Amino acid sequence: MTLRPGLEGVPVTQSAICDIDGLQGNLTYRGYPIGELASQSSFLETTYLLIWGDLPSPQQLRDFEAEVQMHRRVSFRVRDMMKCFPASGHPMDALQSCAASLGLFYSRRAIDNPQYIYDAVVRLIAKIPTMVAAFQLIRKGQDPIQPRDDLAYSANFLYMLTEKEQDPLASRIFDRCLILHAEHSLNASTFSARVTASTLTDPYAVVASAVGTLAGPLHGGANEDVLAMLEEIGSPEKAGVYLDKAIANKLKVMGFGHREYRVKDPRASILQELAEELFARFGKDEMYEVAKALENEATHRLGPKGIFPNVDFYSGLVYRKLGIPRDLFTPVFAISRVAGWLAHWREQLGANRIFRPSQIYTGVQARRWMPPEERNQTRNN
Ligand code: ACO
Repeated sequence: MTLRPGLEGVPVTQSAICDIDGLQGNLTYRGYPIGELASQSSFLETTYLLIWGDLPSPQQLRDFEAEVQMHRRVSFRVRDMMKCFPASGHPMDALQSCAASLGLFYSRRAIDNPQYIYDAVVRLIAKIPTMVAAFQLIRKGQDPIQPRDDLAYSANFLYMLTEKEQDPLASRIFDRCLILHAEHSLNASTFSARVTASTLTDPYAVVASAVGTLAGPLHGGANEDVLAMLEEIGSPEKAGVYLDKAIANKLKVMGFGHREYRVKDPRASILQELAEELFARFGKDEMYEVAKALENEATHRLGPKGIFPNVDFYSGLVYRKLGIPRDLFTPVFAISRVAGWLAHWREQLGANRIFRPSQIYTGVQARRWMPPEERNQTRNN
């Protein structure tokens, strides 16, 4: 048995959802290039494509949008539950709890019924943004704002979060961000979703387990750390020294590197364009120059190892300009990625076998239990 740490290069499933060419920097959802979808599609249309395999007809899209709009509200019980959460807690933990709680409200588990699958998709896509925005207001001591039916998906989320209607350009750019983050094959959180799905549990548990996995700093949580890093660097001319130190100390530079890409992540390039579009309209973020300097310096120092900016590198700058607080960057990622997780949930159910990998045991063999007073050992921490 050969051990492959981190399962690098080990196929664990077949999938028709998303394809990554990490050498050329190409990414497609269901065969459509990410650049085309990010410029032409909407998040809800892309969600439909990811989950059901084809772009919707105009009627299918209208129906899907209307259903999602109808299910945006969350029960007062979920809101009351959030009021019991500590305001200092991380919004990803709040989101994971809220996503799991939906399983209590919709406890029927008919995962072989297409209507059940459709309804669960609609509920999760509709309610996750409302829960993220609600926790933001609740932790500030305010009551959450109700969704507005006259606003489209992304505009409504920004409205619920910032308490004011945003410029249409801001809403469109946010929607494009959601498209970019919606799916990315078998990353850690999607793998987590598939493993959970393979037990035939409910879709709320599938999403809750994936949210927990996305939260870590090596995965979705990196976007928060990127801004902290840029602020620590402070100015463009200090980027080189920072990099040298990080490399000498074997520290990871946040927002760089990817298991799949050996070139710049195509989503990072599009997010950089979106950042520039936002800055042109609403004013520049001074950390943008630091980010560009860091990318430039890193091209010489990390580029030869195939380490380039990933999706998290420029997203924080975009989100900050959109008025999104830093610790909501990863929950915003989750709002989008729920589309990919649900596409994988549905695909897993279509050809399910429970995940149960093996291990290579390295522990002690053949020990005998002894009464405590006869033991003479110090604890291994
Ligand atoms: N900065 C500096 N060196 C790096 C970086 C980085 N960001 N990423 C990888 N390396 C180096 C490692 O030190 C290692 O070098 P070595 O061979 O000399 O020991 C080599 O590249 C391979 O690194 P691994 O960590 O083994 O690569 P892996 O594929 O396991 O990890 C990961 C990929 C987790 C994304 C990694 O690049 C990383 O930690 N990046 C920073 C965190 C980050 O931005 N995460 C977001 C990823 S995108 C997403 O999840 C949405």
